[in-house]
Amino acid sequence: MNNSPDPIQAQPPSWVQRHRSKLAFLALSLAAAAIAVSCATSGTNRGFVLAPAIPGSEYVGSEACEQCHDTLTKRFASAPHAGLIAQGPNAVNVGCESCHGPASIHVESGGAARTILNPDRNPESCYHCHSNLRGQFALPHAHPVGEGRLGCSACHSPHSGDAFAGTASSLTSANEACLTCHKPQRGPHIFEHEAMREGCLTCHAPHGSVNQKMLTERNAVLCLKCHFQQQTGPGRIAIGAIDHTTFLSRGTCWNAGCHEAVHGSQVSSSLRF
Ligand code: HEC
Ligand code: HEC
Ligand code: HEC
Ligand code: HEC
Ligand code: HEC
Ligand code: HEC
Ligand code: HEC
Repeated sequence: MNNSPDPIQAQPPSWVQRHRSKLAFLALSLAAAAIAVSCATSGTNRGFVLAPAIPGSEYVGSEACEQCHDTLTKRFASAPHAGLIAQGPNAVNVGCESCHGPASIHVESGGAARTILNPDRNPESCYHCHSNLRGQFALPHAHPVGEGRLGCSACHSPHSGDAFAGTASSLTSANEACLTCHKPQRGPHIFEHEAMREGCLTCHAPHGSVNQKMLTERNAVLCLKCHFQQQTGPGRIAIGAIDHTTFLSRGTCWNAGCHEAVHGSQVSSSLRF
């Protein structure tokens, strides 16, 4: 492992590369994982800690951050990550450093550039604990996190509250977070699609999906979750007042000519365009 990437510089591969070669991506992920210190689980503590290493730097504990990042450190008590505690003989509260990496060099240098990890540029430290997400973001259709376009913090607030930008319990504010970047979906539409009130997540996976446009289903099932109705006879499929039997074999419900305007329409009450 002579060629381990510098964790501060290490960038996940670009969107294009990722699609060109799944294998290259896998190799890079493995290299990145190899520089992370391994997890330990024991006693009552949660499965655990330690961000990718910063060469030569050691853990100093969250209190050390307060001196210079005063406001942020005080608000941190409300965050779900605040309670993470390192295990072992020299245990310290490594809440901040679980995402930002060991900070002794950063602290001693008074915050010099390139002494600390920023997970928005390289989410490897998040994946170290949330390892299922590495796979989600590697799916063919995924939000391009860590490629300089958006980071986890576009939708999650790491430093306070319940980790969700807006409020997790409120679907409206979850939509709001999405709509700050995806303005065309906002409307107002003359003909609304009521499904939008249920929230973007009824149809889209927020991290990534195997399906086009990060959809949760690839075909009519997406729509039939809500639009399924008692059928009039065997082999016939009616949706609304219309017989859809032959339509459904022609492609997705949101094909051109069908219901292209799934988010709402200015001209068509049946959301055709
Ligand atoms: C040291 C391990 C660790 C690291 C690093 C870590 N997390 Fe977490 N995360 C946790 C634990 C433990 C929880 C609490 C889970 C629970 O309470 O069910 C959590 C909870 C969350 C939640 C809330 C989930 C929910 O259902 O409420 C989000 C969102 C989240 N983390 C995002 C992130 C992001 C983004 C990063 C990187 C910037 C990150 N985490 C880094 C361990 C970690
Ligand atoms: C002696 C002062 C000092 C201490 C102590 C300190 N920092 Fe910093 N930190 C700075 C300065 C200065 C900067 C750069 C200017 C800025 O962004 O505020 C910075 C920037 C950062 C950044 C942004 C880096 C980037 O590239 O985006 C992070 C993350 C950070 N510090 C985390 C921490 C953590 C975690 C701790 C505690 C373990 C800590 N700092 C302790 C002074 C300090
Ligand atoms: C769950 C992971 C996580 C934890 C825990 C965490 N941070 Fe961060 N931090 C992030 C992410 C992601 C960013 C980049 C997004 C941003 O700028 O808000 C960031 C950015 C920063 C920045 C630079 C931007 C700014 O707002 O000034 C500083 C400084 C910082 N963190 C300090 C801390 C300190 C101090 C703690 C502990 C009190 C801490 N962080 C705990 C994930 C985390
Ligand atoms: C485009 C917005 C968006 C981005 C970017 C994003 N998330 Fe999420 N994340 C969400 C939403 C929305 C949920 C809630 C999903 C649900 O309730 O089904 C969620 C759920 C989670 C959860 C809890 C459920 C689970 O799958 O474990 C964790 C942990 C998490 N995200 C971590 C991350 C990390 C780490 C990153 C960056 C690598 C990230 N998220 C980037 C929107 C986002
Ligand atoms: C910080 C900005 C930002 C936020 C917030 C955001 N996205 Fe995205 N979204 C992007 C970017 C950037 C892309 C990639 C676009 C591309 O590759 O052309 C994307 C892609 C998508 C795509 C696929 C588009 C396509 O043409 O394939 C969908 C669907 C999507 N986002 C839904 C959501 C949902 C749902 C949420 C809220 C949970 C959300 N986004 C939050 C920036 C954002
Ligand atoms: C009823 C299901 C449904 C809901 C709810 C939904 N979408 Fe979509 N979305 C779709 C479908 C289907 C497509 C694919 C359209 C296509 O390929 O022409 C799509 C495509 C997209 C795209 C890619 C651009 C485009 O128009 O092709 C973005 C971005 C997007 N949706 C964002 C959002 C956001 C943000 C929300 C919540 C405010 C949301 N969607 C709610 C079904 C839905
Ligand atoms: C979360 C539930 C939900 C999902 C998923 C959903 N819809 Fe809807 N849709 C509704 C509701 C509720 C209405 C308004 C009542 C009605 O007309 O059934 C509606 C209305 C419509 C209408 C207008 C009917 C009319 O002529 O007035 C069309 C067209 C439509 N949906 C198409 C779709 C398509 C295409 C999809 C899949 C991409 C889809 N819907 C997914 C709930 C949903």
